[in-house]
Amino acid sequence: MSVGTSIDTRKLDEIMESYDYNKSNLIAILQKVQEVYRYLPEDAMIYIGTKMEGLSPATVFGVATFYAQFSLEPKGKYEIRVCDGTACHVRGSMPVLNAIRNKLNLKEGQVTSDNGLFSLEIVSCLGACGLAPVCVVNNKVYPQMTSDAISTILDTLIKEEA
Ligand code: FES
Repeated sequence: MSVGTSIDTRKLDEIMESYDYNKSNLIAILQKVQEVYRYLPEDAMIYIGTKMEGLSPATVFGVATFYAQFSLEPKGKYEIRVCDGTACHVRGSMPVLNAIRNKLNLKEGQVTSDNGLFSLEIVSCLGACGLAPVCVVNNKVYPQMTSDAISTILDTLIKEEA
């Protein structure tokens, strides 16, 4: 399999080298790669799988798909997580979710906005049920969200990026 041009193989070499090309450090290596790209590009997994002894692209792909912390799809600069667990659902997570989709022009099932700035993930519980409905944008927790409140937050971010 060929390696595409979208990945920086020198950067990948640097990361693997910092972990002594040791396959037992594969998860840490993939975490670093995800920090660089905000997801795990297929070409990066193929490259790592062919460069590291005792691994194959299939093994790397298997590890990446097993752990929920890894994303195989590009993520936006702003990662939005909307809780749709029971407490949040009952208190109105769906209108919040719909407001986000409308604001970012995300079709049903579309994860990342066309401009690559925002990605949306629906989660089942963020462990803050007393603050329902809850959204998280890049680790910042927004409690008691409404469609108006999340629209204002997104407008501010969109303006900052304009
Ligand atoms: S159900 Fe949303 S934080 Fe628990």
